[in-house]
Amino acid sequence: MVIRCMKKEDYDEIYNMWQITSKRALDNGDSREHIERYLDRNPGMSMVALENDKIIATVLAGHDGRVGFIHHMAVHPDYRRRHIGQALAKEAMSRIAADGIEKMQIYCYIDNLTGQNFWKSLGFNKTDNILFYKDM
Ligand SMILES: CC(C)(COP(=O)(O)OP(=O)(O)OC[C@H]1O[C@@H](n2cnc3c(N)ncnc32)[C@H](O)[C@@H]1OP(=O)(O)O)[C@@H](O)C(=O)NCCC(=O)NCCS
Repeated sequence: MVIRCMKKEDYDEIYNMWQITSKRALDNGDSREHIERYLDRNPGMSMVALENDKIIATVLAGHDGRVGFIHHMAVHPDYRRRHIGQALAKEAMSRIAADGIEKMQIYCYIDNLTGQNFWKSLGFNKTDNILFYKDM
């Protein structure tokens, strides 16, 4: 397995994988234009993992100057439970931390117990007293 930074040219392959791994989390913010803008704003933080030159895992990572965020943490179903997700998340978080960011926030659907167990395994604590609001 190879881990490297996400490139704009990965978009089609990544978006196809997200159709399998992350379909309900996809919205307008995942258009090619927005992902390219995200990568420009957060250079060198989003990562992919490859097996035989095929992308098998992704993480979008960045920060707003004070808090780090991770989106689309996803591993193709054929490659799960091999600690590939952990390796990718740790790499992204270390890159965010190297930019001087000490706080990380993650969003996870309330019925996504796999995702919750995953973030717990990385030392994240669930917050029960905050509501998440969207404008669309
Ligand atoms: C969540 C996801 C990224 C985990 O990727 P992964 O590479 O399989 O996870 P890892 O092998 O690194 O697992 C690390 C730890 O997370 C926990 N974990 C991961 N998958 C789990 C599952 N299905 N059930 C229970 N615990 C799980 C375990 O503690 C695991 O450690 P262990 O295998 O030593 O017990 C993957 O299941 C996925 O892509 N799911 C769909 C997208 C998604 O829900 N992403 C998270 C959004 S918040």
